[in-house]
Amino acid sequence: MRKIGILTSGGDAPGMNACIRAAVRSALYYDMKIIGIERGYEGLIDGTFREMDLASVGDILHRGGTILKTARSERFRTDEGQYAAIRNLEKAGIEGLIVCGGDGTYRGALDLQKKGVSVIGVPATIDNDMGYTDFTIGFDTAVNTVLDAISMIRDTSSSHERTTIIEVMGRECGDIALYSGLTGGADAILIPELEFSLGELADKLVKGIERGKNHSVIIKAEGVEISTKELQQKLQEMTALDIRTVTLAYLQRGGSPSMADRMLATLTANEAAKLLYDDRSGVAVGMTGGRIVATPLRDAVGIRREANLALLPLIDMLSR
Ligand code: F6P
Repeated sequence: MRKIGILTSGGDAPGMNACIRAAVRSALYYDMKIIGIERGYEGLIDGTFREMDLASVGDILHRGGTILKTARSERFRTDEGQYAAIRNLEKAGIEGLIVCGGDGTYRGALDLQKKGVSVIGVPATIDNDMGYTDFTIGFDTAVNTVLDAISMIRDTSSSHERTTIIEVMGRECGDIALYSGLTGGADAILIPELEFSLGELADKLVKGIERGKNHSVIIKAEGVEISTKELQQKLQEMTALDIRTVTLAYLQRGGSPSMADRMLATLTANEAAKLLYDDRSGVAVGMTGGRIVATPLRDAVGIRREANLALLPLIDMLSR
């Protein structure tokens, strides 16, 4: 291919800029032109395109967010929107497209592929909910942000001898809660993939205090059925402990990407550009067992990550 495009779509994730930088500079290295498409599939429909050069991606590697902007496009869910996007791609002479985002972004890419567009996916979402790759771009940074928050909350929580419920992102996938909970020393982790017993949780908190703990931290993913407020009220009634809540929300999506996220973004975006240069498409690039892999897009879409439930007994063992 001689001319390709790149867009970022869905919820932003730290490392998207590292991905844009690597794709642009790799494409130019292979003598391809590369067009940046703004606001994801919205920009594809509106034709908001700009040609990228080496300087256009200078000084962005360390920044969170995405210089191309992002959106969740309702219009792109329709055939009409998709055909408008395809007409714009043809008009601009764009032969292949790199889409950087999560599962919703990949569904859009698959629709384009079915209509004849050459597409490659690069996985970026803080949720780490894409099962075909070990990690997604943004997850590591988000977990590190949660770890920083846990440390800060511990300072005040231990001074006041309180229990704090920290709500983290993850509507269907509990990985942010699981990884930050284990490495942040949480007393309990609540994830959408597993039911929990309120009684056992209350017992654990009380036993902790009885053996001399002066504070406790519970990490709860947002997708867990009970609301954080209700959980707080119920636990307070059952234990008589002083319980506070903190919702980290969008804090987790910002910040400078970690080394792991920059590495993943750089390697996957470089691979995507190389594949398009070789006229290959219809795949999602990812990383399994430390290696960059290309999985057919139709197989990568909709593969949810299975929660690593084996970590839960370890969390229990270490937080007694
Ligand atoms: O990026 C993924 C995610 O952060 C989810 O965990 C969260 O529920 C969702 O996006 C919220 O994003 P928005 O409010 O931007 O739609």
